[in-house]
Amino acid sequence: MRKNIVAGNWKMNTTLQDAQALVSEIVPMVQDETTGSAVEVVICPPFPLLPVVGRLLPQGGRLHLGAQNCHQKESGAFTGEVSAKLLASIGTEYVILGHSERRQYFGEDDELLSQKLKAALSAGLKPIFCVGESLETREANETFAFIEKQLKDGLFHLSNEEFAQVVVAYEPVWAIGTGKTATSQQAQEVHAFIREQIARAYDAEAAQNTTILYGGSANAQNARELFSQPDVDGGLIGGASLKSRDFTEIIKSF
Ligand code: G3P
Repeated sequence: MRKNIVAGNWKMNTTLQDAQALVSEIVPMVQDETTGSAVEVVICPPFPLLPVVGRLLPQGGRLHLGAQNCHQKESGAFTGEVSAKLLASIGTEYVILGHSERRQYFGEDDELLSQKLKAALSAGLKPIFCVGESLETREANETFAFIEKQLKDGLFHLSNEEFAQVVVAYEPVWAIGTGKTATSQQAQEVHAFIREQIARAYDAEAAQNTTILYGGSANAQNARELFSQPDVDGGLIGGASLKSRDFTEIIKSF
């Protein structure tokens, strides 16, 4: 079901102490300053911090726990890996899949991601599936073709019922961590294109019901403009999610 979501991707940042302090600031800020808001908040800490962060989130509220990845198998001899089944068992509700950093540094391709999606859905997790082009691709005017391929190869094998659980995140690689945010027009263009591809692959209802987030140097100053776009349903936030005031201001930006 389409909704407004602000998800914080902490990446490989924070310690136990940092996480406890950060969440202890975020929870009262969000509760006190967004009363009556329907915006869903997802906090995605590093794996070891999931249980402690989960315990700090009010149960049944608008703050949810998310992971940054999961393995494609349910269990087995995969040293160092974490299964979707384990994530679900500790209260994780969402999982980021296909982040450009995992594609770039860990060789994750759309075939592998299609398997991870199945594993996540089988465990009852809601995937946040990331797509996005490099600067070279954009400058070559190949953005739409590139994203269409990522969607078709990684995501569109899901059944209608499976797809209904998916959140899509558009993260232009050239905007991640660079301070060079996509303009609201650039974001809207690609979000509308993604929604159009979903309508073609599934149907108009599925397209209208899909939550599509923007990620890439979104912050307290630009979030309102980005979120005002008709096909931008919220954000997948990196650096700004590590600052309680900035993250809360982004959540208030609808
Ligand atoms: O997953 C969100 C992240 O890639 C965006 O990072 O620091 O540009 O907000 P940042």
